Amino acid sequence: MSVVVKNLTKIYGEQHAVDDVSFEAKPGQVLGFLGPNGAGKTTTMKIVTCFIPQTAGEVTVCGNDVLKNPMEVRRSIGYLPEHNPLYKDLYVKEYLSFVARLHGVSNIKQRVDEMVQMTGLEREQKKVIGALSKGYRQRVGLAQAMLHDPEVLILDEPTSGLDPNQLAEIRNLIKQLGQKKTVIFSTHIMQEVQALCDRVVIINRGKIVADDPIEALQSRVKGESVVTVEFAEKADKKLLASIPKVQKVNDLGKNRWQLIAAADVDVRPEVHKFLVQHHLTLLEMHKEVISVEDIFQKLTNGL
Ligand SMILES: Nc1ncnc2c1ncn2[C@@H]1O[C@H](COP(=O)(O)OP(=O)(O)OP(=O)(O)O)[C@@H](O)[C@H]1O
Ligand SMILES: [Mg+2]
Repeated sequence: MSVVVKNLTKIYGEQHAVDDVSFEAKPGQVLGFLGPNGAGKTTTMKIVTCFIPQTAGEVTVCGNDVLKNPMEVRRSIGYLPEHNPLYKDLYVKEYLSFVARLHGVSNIKQRVDEMVQMTGLEREQKKVIGALSKGYRQRVGLAQAMLHDPEVLILDEPTSGLDPNQLAEIRNLIKQLGQKKTVIFSTHIMQEVQALCDRVVIINRGKIVADDPIEALQSRVKGESVVTVEFAEKADKKLLASIPKVQKVNDLGKNRWQLIAAADVDVRPEVHKFLVQHHLTLLEMHKEVISVEDIFQKLTNGL
């Protein structure tokens, strides 16, 4: 595990901004960190990246404790903060070279050029940062986070402010990074979670309300799996109910049926055998997928 968060708590005055939070993240995995406004995402990320100390609990990054070995932790982490602070008077490449020097990167010019290309900054690279649009500043922030090729990337809302074309490119980049590195990123865009994350941690009012692989999360909330089928011919409800693992059958009319099974069961292979046995012609079959948005609302609303 490259990031281990154990019983983490951060108290501001009376408020438990982060309240006994534990989770882990490992290389080759993109972990989506979700939660409503004020849930404690940024606070957790600031503690993991050594920007603020915790009130209680333990965080280690690549085996180093954030309080005992902050320099080691910083070396292994690339961080894109929520408000992406940049030196507005510096030119893009000047700024990136400056950050590269701070990190002791060798081959600064080559590495900066690589980052400019990776984040699609070529066209804007000659500008002063203050003259860049929001999305391009976001790209500079991402480039800055990746310069020293860290093992862990902590990205606080990396895609906020990006146009749809930029969104697709940056999402691809995050996905690519996640194949080798440990990526923890926060977002409010649910389709992004579905597209990018291997694992999802949902936090609400400082407490973790879900920590699951994305498919498990979907089953957990739904409580059942639903497969919809359409046949060319009439079928018999009782016969359909006899398909192994099917618990309930709903007639949707016009030879369309809903087959209900337990959450972790996929009845589609059984349906296929059934078709062959009973000489039925299948026109359509699909397994319903519950959206991350539904899950998010269910777990964080009205608590
Ligand atoms: N420096 C601070 N002093 C006092 N309270 C703070 C401080 N920083 C954060 N908080 C409080 O801690 C809680 C968690 O804030 P945090 O920024 O971690 O939320 P978040 O999940 O990142 O929300 P968002 O989605 O809006 O970015 C909020 O109620 C916030 O007001
Ligand atoms: Mg935040």
